[in-house]
Amino acid sequence: MSSTTDASAGRAQIAERTLRTDRWWLPPLATLVGLSAWVIYATVRVFLQQWYFVPDHNYLSPFYSPCISYGCVPEAAHFGRVLPDLPWLPYAAVSLPFLLLFRLTCYYYRKAYYRSFWASPPACAVAEPHRRYTGETRFPLLLQNAHRYFFYIALIITVINTYDAIKAFQNADGSLGFGLGNIILVVNVVLLWIYTVSCHSCRSIIGGRLNHFSRHPLRYRLWGLVSRLNTRHMEWAWITLATLAITDFYIMAVSAGWFADPRIIN
Ligand code: FES
Repeated sequence: MSSTTDASAGRAQIAERTLRTDRWWLPPLATLVGLSAWVIYATVRVFLQQWYFVPDHNYLSPFYSPCISYGCVPEAAHFGRVLPDLPWLPYAAVSLPFLLLFRLTCYYYRKAYYRSFWASPPACAVAEPHRRYTGETRFPLLLQNAHRYFFYIALIITVINTYDAIKAFQNADGSLGFGLGNIILVVNVVLLWIYTVSCHSCRSIIGGRLNHFSRHPLRYRLWGLVSRLNTRHMEWAWITLATLAITDFYIMAVSAGWFADPRIIN
């Protein structure tokens, strides 16, 4: 067998790091900037521990949901308060670590940060700087395989976000209310559902291990729907990062009194 067809020969021996002449570095750079900016914003907001709730309209920031710390104002604690009030402990410490793990182990984000933060590799047909490549076969990257379990937890948290969005239609005095904040909260939660169910694990849970789709027409229909959403999983991942930040920022702005929530029904 010639050396050019021998699989054990490894990569082509070329001096250049890549033969690509396009701006291959642009997508990983944009990802690096975008993800870093989001993480900085979210970290600041989560530890700020104020301007997360609008009591008049029951608007609760998704970064503080469920609000279960003794530091939470009682009206925002829809599920009770059990965590101690400490400056280094986020009010939603029960959900945020799992949401972080859900996104960190997401198939799309893995690709994104492997490329942009790790340069492993930075782009197709661009050699990586690392000497060794072990993929996800060893600790800690082996834990990426737990994604399916974080998906189940993310489902529960999305139900909680949905409850928050519904609760926000109730004013502090119990009357029905509807304002711009409700629209933002509902749009955010609908997109969170789309991102969550477009998950690759969800697709495999719904359609996996079936030998005959014809014997499971409901699962087949659901699998078809999830598969269609799944083709745009990357877009949903970015869109929901944006809507989460926008929703939190809007609630912060109204809560801090920077402007009043425009009301359609008071
Ligand atoms: Fe992205 Fe599951 S693959 S959330």
